[in-house]
Amino acid sequence: MRRIVYTKKGGLDSIDIIEDKTPKLSPNEVLIQVHRAGINFADLMMRQGLYGAAPNFPFTPGYEIAGVIIGLGKDVSKFSEGDRVVSLCGFGGYSEQIAVSDDRTFLLPDEVSFDTAAAMPVTYATAYHMLKHLGNFQKGDSILVHHAAGGVGTAAAQIGRHLGASKIIGTSSAEKSDFVREMGMIHVDREKEDFVLVCKKETDGDGVHHALDPVGGNHLMRSYKSLRSGGRLYCFGASSAVKGSKRSLISAIKMWKSTPKFDPLRMMNSNKAVFGVHLGTWKDQEILAQHMIELEKLLREGGINPIVDKVFRFEDVSKAQKYIHDRKNKGKVLLDFSPL
Ligand SMILES: NC(=O)c1ccc[n+]([C@@H]2O[C@H](COP(=O)([O-])OP(=O)(O)OC[C@H]3O[C@@H](n4cnc5c(N)ncnc54)[C@H](OP(=O)(O)O)[C@@H]3O)[C@@H](O)[C@H]2O)c1
Repeated sequence: MRRIVYTKKGGLDSIDIIEDKTPKLSPNEVLIQVHRAGINFADLMMRQGLYGAAPNFPFTPGYEIAGVIIGLGKDVSKFSEGDRVVSLCGFGGYSEQIAVSDDRTFLLPDEVSFDTAAAMPVTYATAYHMLKHLGNFQKGDSILVHHAAGGVGTAAAQIGRHLGASKIIGTSSAEKSDFVREMGMIHVDREKEDFVLVCKKETDGDGVHHALDPVGGNHLMRSYKSLRSGGRLYCFGASSAVKGSKRSLISAIKMWKSTPKFDPLRMMNSNKAVFGVHLGTWKDQEILAQHMIELEKLLREGGINPIVDKVFRFEDVSKAQKYIHDRKNKGKVLLDFSPL
């Protein structure tokens, strides 16, 4: 079986595809023949060596996959060979086959395609975790979301709409304005418009209830300023550390240096909250599993509908990652590992 490897930190040329043995199973693991693997922005950051929670090089990235069970560890009782499943596999998902713990694996309803399944776990669980679990989202709440046309952005828009958001304000590149509007958001051109002003204007001067910021650096303070009293800022990424497909230490340092130091006394006076959010380091698997169950229910009821922009064969992984570096994606990008 083949798997994709990041050989060293760097650009797209540090991606390789290697031949490897079929993974050995621990008692509680299932062996999955991967059909689709989701690409997350974090995968790009890991490749550039800008992601603290990544394994040491060389390693195989890939947080999420959908496929078919082809082997069972001796203690696994809830699955059978041939089951179609989706899994939040941690790392290693960019592989033709992977061994994953059964408690990170979920049965797929027949009507859910591998595309839809692989597009969901990270983006939807992250958006749901922020808005619903951490954010105690209430009907009528307003949301600011950056990278609005991307994976988490579109997931947050759909979940927000389902939960009864009054307004969802989304920033993105100008070319995606129509798409962002189609997703039910008020579009803000991330380069030309001031999203703080738009948030205030759209909420009668109050500001939004929830600001989802994956950009980091000084952008965080602007998202904080977009909040109303009682509002919550979620810091869940650092995309401003990335400049194109090559590793840029200068951008990373700039991001790091411009990251605000929030003062609890000032936060007290303005009645605002700041959450740091990282699904990858979140320990409580039961809560994650609960999110997945809720999301699957929402999917079946039509409350959410993951947007898959493009599916690349896994041999074209560099092209797929370049597509995201070039900011072209509207929704999710997947890798196709299905046997030919
Ligand atoms: N903490 C967590 O648990 C967690 C989980 C999932 C995702 N995240 C974070 O959430 C963000 C979104 O993740 P995603 O996987 O859904 O990706 P995504 O939003 O689909 O990422 C691609 C889009 O991001 C925008 N972008 C902003 N800065 C960029 C840059 N420097 N280079 C390329 N594109 C850039 C571009 O759209 P526009 O130019 O149109 O804005 C691009 O199309 C990422 O920062 C990711 O690290 C965090």
